[in-house]
Amino acid sequence: MSQIVWLIGASNGIGLELAKIYLEKKYRVIVSARDTAHSVALSVLKAEYETTLHLIDMDVSQTRSVLTQTQQVWNTYGGLDMCIYNAGVYESMKIEQWNLEHFEAMNQVNYMGAVRVLTQLTPLFEKQKKGHIAFNISISSYFGLPYGGGYSAPKAALLNLCESIQPELAAKKIKLQVINHGFVKTRLTAKNAFEMPQLLEPEEAARKIYEGVTHSKAFEIKFPWALTRFLHFLRIVPYSLAFSLTKKAL
Ligand SMILES: NC(=O)c1ccc[n+]([C@@H]2O[C@H](COP(=O)([O-])OP(=O)(O)OC[C@H]3O[C@@H](n4cnc5c(N)ncnc54)[C@H](OP(=O)(O)O)[C@@H]3O)[C@@H](O)[C@H]2O)c1
Repeated sequence: MSQIVWLIGASNGIGLELAKIYLEKKYRVIVSARDTAHSVALSVLKAEYETTLHLIDMDVSQTRSVLTQTQQVWNTYGGLDMCIYNAGVYESMKIEQWNLEHFEAMNQVNYMGAVRVLTQLTPLFEKQKKGHIAFNISISSYFGLPYGGGYSAPKAALLNLCESIQPELAAKKIKLQVINHGFVKTRLTAKNAFEMPQLLEPEEAARKIYEGVTHSKAFEIKFPWALTRFLHFLRIVPYSLAFSLTKKAL
């Protein structure tokens, strides 16, 4: 039987392209987002892949929704081979523009939603004696950049949590991977007024993610190379040097 993958946050952008790849590769796919019926692209896919694509609405910011829908997803095909947590929201804010609702939404979706899914999925994977979960985080988790901290702080928290639980999950035969990539042209980055270096198309990013989670044993899948190296450089040099560079973004 073909492998079963659950894509959380796949109504748009990178997640939608991942869904197309997995369906083409003959996986059985479950796509979740808040309101999948709203996505015309998903309806088109559903018509084409009637039996191998299931759409299950789930709001990762709601504990009850994650609790009930994770079980429904599990029951759909009687188990799950892998889950990619791709849900994310983004608002860039100067300090004068700080908005607590934006902060709360980013914390709920970019961090707490991932915790909710892990809480539900880990015991199911453990009982099944195998599992694979990957989180689409961001290279912004390496170092906080001007105006982007509301987004990158929960992403950094998720990266830190994943580092913390990797050994425990590995002991339970659950493979954990993090995906840290740079700018991708989606509705999320359409909010950026600045020029984004090494901007990728969502199809390209999805292809790299698919290759990484399918063929790599590495904990971290990262791209593109130059931007990843630069953000990593900021993390390891003295703060004085890092801030002399990041202040140029003001
Ligand atoms: N684009 C970039 O440059 C970039 C760079 C690094 C990392 N990332 C990460 O890549 C992932 C995908 O981003 P994208 O650029 O493809 O953005 P996108 O097109 O806006 O996709 C985000 C997905 O998250 C879902 N989502 C948002 N809130 C949700 C909630 N409460 N419950 C369930 N699903 C929810 C959205 O579905 P609904 O709105 O339909 O619910 C959508 O399917 C995100 O985690 C993002 O942080 C993106």
